[in-house]
Amino acid sequence: MNRKVFVTHELPGCRIHELSEHCDVNVWLGPGLLPAKSLHEELAGCQGLVCLLTDRIDRDLLDAMPDLEFVSSMAVGVDHVDVAALTARGIPLGHTPGVLTDTTADTTFALLLAAARRISEADRFVRQGEWRRENRWSPDFFTGKDVSGATLGIVGLGEIGQAVARRAAAFGMEVVGWNRSPKDVPGVEQLSLAALLARSDFVSVHVALTPDTRCLLGAAEIAAMKPGAVLVNTARGGIVDEPALAAALASGALYAAGVDVFAEEPVPVDNPLLALPNVVLAPHIGSATTRTRARMADMAAANAIAALQGQPMPHCANPEVYTR
Ligand code: DGY
Repeated sequence: MNRKVFVTHELPGCRIHELSEHCDVNVWLGPGLLPAKSLHEELAGCQGLVCLLTDRIDRDLLDAMPDLEFVSSMAVGVDHVDVAALTARGIPLGHTPGVLTDTTADTTFALLLAAARRISEADRFVRQGEWRRENRWSPDFFTGKDVSGATLGIVGLGEIGQAVARRAAAFGMEVVGWNRSPKDVPGVEQLSLAALLARSDFVSVHVALTPDTRCLLGAAEIAAMKPGAVLVNTARGGIVDEPALAAALASGALYAAGVDVFAEEPVPVDNPLLALPNVVLAPHIGSATTRTRARMADMAAANAIAALQGQPMPHCANPEVYTR
């Protein structure tokens, strides 16, 4: 009998179409995101799951799925999955590292530049007819903050953090960095997190969300940032204390922020960050280019196909399942 695989969304790329050569495939066609209840219903009796970062794969779900043999997620971050619970059952978890590094670093830099130079504010000003109404252009008109010559502090020196460091160097920034386990990165001066926050004109977050990094930038760390600094987060929402960030931005303690990821997504409309003019917002689109999303989907499909063929996944977030 063919094994059954549930895919929680239509995926781009070409390899996903190969999946049906190896199993019976059921794809959720929407509309909208798959509700948790439907994930429970559709996954019942399946051996495989291909999912997105919007699908919560928790212990309750896993306990209800005795037949599950693999999970392949189209994301590099795996904070939406209870990895320990999967590993305890010997279930491999596929993910998609590497292919989204440059795209996410580009998004980071786009937000950094937009926050520094007030691009969203300026866009609204023009679009809403204010420029014409006020009939104004003056030397202090929409003045922002220089990027060249400024110091960028990178919190987390993994692949994406390092790709952001390369971009920063090309923009004439001094780059300092912090990593939980010290990492020698050419051109990046290693500092303690406290020293980085005190010295950086711009801070960009690039750690994975884990129990250790949840609220890594809490109220105390945000208060310890250099006055007038800019914070950019394209990693995960839970890493930064959003109410503390909003308060620092509203009071002028921080100059601006660029935020692509939120503690709750889709972000509730009463999130205080949404009311602030000095925040550039994006809906978790760090890796959102057509080419990169196709590559991610192809990797997710390749991980699933390997699992169906009884082979190790080429990109497995819990490879210890293969060595026990
Ligand atoms: C990931 O893959 O974890 C990213 O957040 C998606 O852009």
